[in-house]
Amino acid sequence: MTKGFVCGGVYLGGLVRNIQNIERQIMNRQFLKAIGSLTAVAAVIATGLVVSTQRGHADDGGDSDQSKVRIGFAIAPVPLNLTGKNRDLVGLGSYLVNASADCNGCHTKSPDTQYVFGGIPYFGQHPTKVNPATYMGGGSDFGPFGAVEIVSRNLTPDKTGLPEGGNTFDDFLKIMRKGTDLDKWHPTCSSTSGPHCIPPPFDGSLLQVMPWPTFQNMTDNDLRAIYEYLRAIPCLEGDPGNPAGADTKGHRCH
Ligand code: HEC
Repeated sequence: MTKGFVCGGVYLGGLVRNIQNIERQIMNRQFLKAIGSLTAVAAVIATGLVVSTQRGHADDGGDSDQSKVRIGFAIAPVPLNLTGKNRDLVGLGSYLVNASADCNGCHTKSPDTQYVFGGIPYFGQHPTKVNPATYMGGGSDFGPFGAVEIVSRNLTPDKTGLPEGGNTFDDFLKIMRKGTDLDKWHPTCSSTSGPHCIPPPFDGSLLQVMPWPTFQNMTDNDLRAIYEYLRAIPCLEGDPGNPAGADTKGHRCH
């Protein structure tokens, strides 16, 4: 019985050792395999890096500003006036406006007229065709803030050739970085403000809805590029977002 137990013990001990050996072998193999796959992953990453670096240098299909300039010109939905403009900035600006910041998504008349029939992406129509007749002309209504409807404004240049109705680059920076409403179209309601005011806690001196708290993080060069692009697009008549009576009515472009 005892012998049997000892035998059993020896037998069991051998079995345990065998199992431990096998485990160790498996672990070694797994370890080697893991190392192997890590090496493979590292190799893939390294190759990817080399390939993408090469691509960035060789055919510029990567993420450089030059490829953005090229795409910017390819996707601009309106003819661009490049006279007296920095071509690279216009192209980059078009990329930022049309591929990234979706300015026209809000600064168009309405979602119904943003695209031309036959090129309405949401109908499954290809290729997408943005409506040049409303492009960046403003007019989308974002609803009432008190008595005032917040309406996106016309960003096309006026007859002076400066964008969004004649703003200098310094003005543009104030708008994009601080949200200043230079036109003071909707002051904060107070005892002295007229009826065209927006109620606190909204600050009427600031543009509402407009995503300037996001755009303020852009680099100077990106904002300069957007400004240069806005100089190059065609003028559209009208001054949506104006309080009644302030409309330039037909005199914006000529
Ligand atoms: C989510 C909608 C939305 C997007 C996207 C948007 N805007 Fe606006 N923007 C507005 C609205 C609405 C106003 C007017 C706000 C008000 O009256 O308080 C405005 C106002 C402006 C003004 C002030 C115009 C003036 O006459 O003073 C400028 C400039 C402007 N936007 C530029 C841009 C640019 C450039 C982009 C893209 C980079 C952009 N916006 C994207 C909604 C938008």
